[in-house]
Amino acid sequence: MQIKEGLTYDDVLLIPKYSDITSRKNVDTTSRLTREIMLKIPIVSSNMDTVTESAMAIAMARLGGIGIIHRFLSIKEEVKEVTKVKRYEGYMIENPVTMLQNQSVREAKEMLEGFGIGGIVVVDEDKKVKGIVTRRDVEFEDDDSRSVEEIMTPRSRLIVANSLSMNEAKEILKKNKIEKLPIVDEKDRLKALITAKDIQKMKLFPNASKDEKGRLRVGAAVGVKGDFMERAESLIESYCDVIVVDVAHGHSMQAVEAVKKIKRNFGDEVQVIAGNVATAEGVIDLVKAGADAVKVGVGPGSICTTRIVTGFGVPQLTAIMECSEAAKDFDVPVIADGGIRFPGDITKAIAAGASTVMIGGLFAGTEESPGPVVLRNGVRYKLTRGMASLSAALDRKIRESDKYDEVNRLLEDTAEETVPEGVEGLIPYKGRVEEVVRQLMGGLRSGMSYCGAHNIEELRQKAEFIRMTSSGLRESLPHDIERVV
Ligand code: XMP
Repeated sequence: MQIKEGLTYDDVLLIPKYSDITSRKNVDTTSRLTREIMLKIPIVSSNMDTVTESAMAIAMARLGGIGIIHRFLSIKEEVKEVTKVKRYEGYMIENPVTMLQNQSVREAKEMLEGFGIGGIVVVDEDKKVKGIVTRRDVEFEDDDSRSVEEIMTPRSRLIVANSLSMNEAKEILKKNKIEKLPIVDEKDRLKALITAKDIQKMKLFPNASKDEKGRLRVGAAVGVKGDFMERAESLIESYCDVIVVDVAHGHSMQAVEAVKKIKRNFGDEVQVIAGNVATAEGVIDLVKAGADAVKVGVGPGSICTTRIVTGFGVPQLTAIMECSEAAKDFDVPVIADGGIRFPGDITKAIAAGASTVMIGGLFAGTEESPGPVVLRNGVRYKLTRGMASLSAALDRKIRESDKYDEVNRLLEDTAEETVPEGVEGLIPYKGRVEEVVRQLMGGLRSGMSYCGAHNIEELRQKAEFIRMTSSGLRESLPHDIERVV
């Protein structure tokens, strides 16, 4: 038997090329997610339960990438997460902070400070709007025990509106020289709040990934068994842009049949990503079944143990090269899923032929990832886990069971039956995902300028890899210093 050689990110570097790029701002990172969807930044957040729900998907789409909601939720819950993204209006605060009329000026001061906001809508028990109290109102008020009702701008002098577009809101704010516009229903109950500041902020996201109706784009995962068709249908009815048919071994009869079925029934309404595979044959079978993009990666993920548990996998760079080569014949993009640890890995993945990269671990510890921040020895962490880890399998069993008294037995059975292909662990808290994406994109942009590539296509055409030894890798990492930061 002849044994092929497989390489991954750390085995290679890209050879610097002549460049006429004077600033990395001048490179265009627009790339294809699927046959029909373009992204301004080639980054997709993983469909993992410690990575992508609506908060992450909203952040990713605003930045120009996309998030894929994981499938380990009930159909109703997954649809809800998709709907939150599709309904998200950056200029409208859905659940604004409120106060009751009889609360004190002291409380208003504390809340304004605590939430870091400029004003609070005052309501009654029925949520009817009674006024607005602002920082200016409380600033010169010495008697903290007074009620906010005495110092607020009362409802009679407030301008409010029912639902309206961003441009209409902008007009009202400008015309009336006001900072805040409460949105009320027909009974004058508070529904949302529009602020001039939030509208300003919207301008900060010129790359946002949006559908033809101006809504943020989002993807959602389905499996290949059980309720997957019903799930796909409900997600598509909720205007989900992309369905990701996601199984660990995507080059399987079940995955191929699932893609065919979804495409046959809903092909005109939605784009379908299928995976994961690591071979040209896998790509060809999924594309022939109708996939609009193929996800590549068997075992490279930060929380994956597939390779050591089963002995299977293909080092990620080789997998990307072989899969992209096959996908090119069908003009279908490839998503490099898993194993991205440094910004340079994104440049390498795209140079090897991928159109986008999917990222789990690097986003798992961010503010927008699901789950609480935990403290350990004074350091902040978040939890992350493989979707094939024991803890994820146990959680799924608990979710599926409606018989509380049977849970213990179910868990014991599951623990006995499960052969995990993933692990669970703590990951340092990293703050907002925007900052992580900024670093990753800075690396990609710089990488493109080292290659003299003005756009993604040029990066692929001009890229030339060089293999390195372990000494080369050692040399590539910071060395011979005591690192401070
Ligand atoms: P990174 O390296 O970005 O990889 O954290 C994320 C990708 O890892 C895959 N994934 C798994 N693979 N066992 C596996 O072998 C697992 O339990 C598991 N959970 C996630 C997935 O493709 C994800 O996007």
